[in-house]
Amino acid sequence: MTDRRRIVAGNWKMHGSLVSASELAGALAATTHEAGRGLPEVIVFPPFPHLDAVRRVLEEAESAGTLAVQLGAQDLSIHEQGAHTGEVSADMLLDCGCSHVLVGHSERRTGLRESDELVARKFHRAADHGLIPVLCVGETLPERRAERTAEVVLRQLGAVLELCGGNMFERAVLAYEPVWAIGTGHTATPEQAQQVHTLLRGEIARTNAKIAVGIRILYGGSVNGANAAALFAQPDIDGGLVGGASLDAKEFLRIIAAV
Ligand code: 13P
Repeated sequence: MTDRRRIVAGNWKMHGSLVSASELAGALAATTHEAGRGLPEVIVFPPFPHLDAVRRVLEEAESAGTLAVQLGAQDLSIHEQGAHTGEVSADMLLDCGCSHVLVGHSERRTGLRESDELVARKFHRAADHGLIPVLCVGETLPERRAERTAEVVLRQLGAVLELCGGNMFERAVLAYEPVWAIGTGHTATPEQAQQVHTLLRGEIARTNAKIAVGIRILYGGSVNGANAAALFAQPDIDGGLVGGASLDAKEFLRIIAAV
């Protein structure tokens, strides 16, 4: 066992309304917990237009005996500011109370054709501004079937290491999200996930052994209250990045309880 504090993160993707996002945040933040129990860090990633409302709900609910929930965004611009219609800058996210930001989610890599290089520049922008980047990597089903998983995830991670260097991972989080497991109900087995997590940690260790020991590597892809405990029991799985199951407060709390 290591002393890496676990993380349970909820990516709300493009779901919900201002009202439902506020209610969900309220339900999480109102959850009481027994003092002294090893709680994970909890982070939610609402859509941009809901960030401010969620922040206010979380701040109002914050008190000693309730769950501390941090705020993150689902994307950021590589640009500082300027004529970039539709883009959202790192400073704007900090203004909204965000501490974390997702970079390289497969739905952006695939659906919006974000390249490894663009993802690396987003990671750099986030870390440079004091946001904690959560770098997502993962292979598609044809890539897994062709036994290219290692090659793909190392290429995705390698692009960031090349641009940013290993030291920029000191405050970063990694997430292994096999594309074939996202939203499909086909969760990777704990052993499949552990194998990739070990590989990723080993790759970080090649540039900085100390950071590799401390970095949290989350698993994402059809995590739910029933399968979370077995996944989190693996030595290199430091928590989960949860999509669908994070939209239901009870189910998300079951995952938190599995830590
Ligand atoms: P699901 O948990 O819905 O499979 O989504 C995972 C994910 O993409 C989190 O970023």
